[in-house]
Amino acid sequence: MDIERYIKERAAAVNRSLPSFISRLEGAQPRLAGAMTYSLAAGGKRLRPVLLGASYELFGGKARDILPAACALEMVHTYSLVHDDLPAMDDDDLRRGRPTSHKVYGEALAILAGDALLTDAFTTLLSSKYPARVKPASLLRAAAVLAARAGARGMVSGQAADLGAEGFLAGKITAARRRRGLELLGYIHLHKTADLITAAVEMGAALAGAPEKDFKALSAFGRELGLCFQVADDILDVTADKKKLGKSGSDARNCKLTYASLLGVEGARAKAESLRERALASLGKVSGRRGPRQALAGLAAFVYGRES
Ligand code: IPE
Ligand code: IPE
Ligand code: MG
Ligand code: MG
Ligand code: MG
Repeated sequence: MDIERYIKERAAAVNRSLPSFISRLEGAQPRLAGAMTYSLAAGGKRLRPVLLGASYELFGGKARDILPAACALEMVHTYSLVHDDLPAMDDDDLRRGRPTSHKVYGEALAILAGDALLTDAFTTLLSSKYPARVKPASLLRAAAVLAARAGARGMVSGQAADLGAEGFLAGKITAARRRRGLELLGYIHLHKTADLITAAVEMGAALAGAPEKDFKALSAFGRELGLCFQVADDILDVTADKKKLGKSGSDARNCKLTYASLLGVEGARAKAESLRERALASLGKVSGRRGPRQALAGLAAFVYGRES
């Protein structure tokens, strides 16, 4: 399977669908709607919506039928990026190859655009039409998954821990502190990044009404893939061509605790590799259609080997 092409086609479908949800913002304050559109339309890999669609297709059905759910997830992800870049957080000027939201719209509006993207994600998810095979209880479960994974027990706590760990590496790193650092990093990455990637595959499975055993195996796949994704992000922050990356790489300036800063780039690569293998082992326990399973395996390879 040509995974780059698969991602490109699936991402294009998400990109075509997103404006229809933005257009529902009629009645929203125009500058606020402008800020929301600016960040959503800036591009990005659309990895989470693509994962959601592939997971749904494992159990029958077509990803295009659940595009509103995929777009809702992308709205939550985009809100997280807008807030992550704020001066009070990572203080970044570049995102998806463009000036960050607060650079264009000012801090206050960037905060509000994030608030609105998060809230309206649930309007998009819950007020859209789906085929009859998506049962109301399945939609409710998908919404509960998204809320829980994005909330205080999920992504937001990861972000809080990430900020709390800034400067952890200052001073001498003893073996005990390295151990503590690894423990902390496990928590940070699990929540700030892996939770939303786990939500992607769980939402797909929930919407499809997947058997519980498959839901659990997919959830483990999402967690390991999400951790692998963030270790790769840590590495790219140090090694990537910033133009390709579309962001300027601020981990060193912010004294972030990352796998690259704690283990070095080579150590981080070994960690990413072992996470990718674990993800594939979990995927091996998922039943469902062969094509989507191959796509999910391809997505794991993409996450590990990506350059942006
Ligand atoms: C960036 O996510 C934030 C992290 C969780 C590391 P992506 O790398 O998926 O960003 P986009 O959506 O492609 O811009
Ligand atoms: C951000 O992690 C995770 C979330 C936005 C929830 P990073 O701070 O490492 O992401 P980038 O590198 O700015 O995209
Ligand atoms: Mg951050
Ligand atoms: Mg950041
Ligand atoms: Mg990063």
